[in-house]
Amino acid sequence: MTREILSSAPAKVILCGEHAVVYGEPALVTAINLKAYCRLIETDTGKIEITSRNLGKSISYALDSKERPPRNELYPILRSLLHILNKFDERVSARIEISSEIPVSAGLGSSAAVPVACSAALYYFINGKLDREAVMEAAREAEKIVHGRPSGIDTMIATFGGVYAYRKFEEPIKIDVPRDFPKILVIDTGIKRSTGALVEKVRRLKEKYPKVIDPVIHAIGRLTIEAIYAIFDRDYERLGELLTLNHRLLSTIGVSHEQLDLIVKTAIENGALGAKLTGAGGGGCAIAICYEEHVERVTNALKVRGFRCFSVNVSEDGVIIERK
Ligand code: PMV
Repeated sequence: MTREILSSAPAKVILCGEHAVVYGEPALVTAINLKAYCRLIETDTGKIEITSRNLGKSISYALDSKERPPRNELYPILRSLLHILNKFDERVSARIEISSEIPVSAGLGSSAAVPVACSAALYYFINGKLDREAVMEAAREAEKIVHGRPSGIDTMIATFGGVYAYRKFEEPIKIDVPRDFPKILVIDTGIKRSTGALVEKVRRLKEKYPKVIDPVIHAIGRLTIEAIYAIFDRDYERLGELLTLNHRLLSTIGVSHEQLDLIVKTAIENGALGAKLTGAGGGGCAIAICYEEHVERVTNALKVRGFRCFSVNVSEDGVIIERK
């Protein structure tokens, strides 16, 4: 009988600390209720074939081929899968179908959720269980190709779900978000951008003006710690203020965009507690936090300015096997 596995992994929003996290500062991140799905179907073709419905792309690689695998947007995922096959010295031939609810190149972690879901499906197919650490390790192979200096935050959260304080090379700390936590709105500029290019832009600026940029990076880290305490204290006004401050610091290091600045201004003028870009910036998405009673006003004001705006929930699910 042909075996089939369906797995999923969540999108994320970085609540604060992006970019600084690349340089060892802490960041605060939450998985959200948008998912990438991977359907793995056993075949007898001797190939790994990957197709993405959203990208309208596919890639195929014969496992006994002496050639280098072809390069396209799906190559990073292939690399993660080959990492697993090499690790277990397996020659599984399979068709992998990807479908995703997560907007691409928008700062919501699609490029981590997809390889995490695919690696989990293959790992489960081979071992009949899910080892999250091993899945994360394989998915990081993809992340390294997509952008050269990843902090690892995206693959961590897509693997484990929930809300975490994350610092490179340290054990992530799970944060319990109080029940009365404000609503999280995601606002999409619709502007695609490359995480790798933006991380590189910050690196160049930091190299050119270390005495100016290093303190800003460190301030973002400090602010993240303050934000975590604000959550513990359930002081959401303070949390909002810190998020907006985070946006201004990110703007200082050159990763904002006039549309992101407009979103932040509009959200705050209409009652949000705070707002900021999320992820690498340069376009992509922003987030705003606001009390339930202000959601409609904030959302309408943003929609009038032409932005897509939706409310998301924290997802406790990390990567899971949905069907086997
Ligand atoms: O935009 P995204 O979802 O790729 O988030 C990137 C977060 C950065 O801090 C900018 C980079 C990283 O590796 O942490």
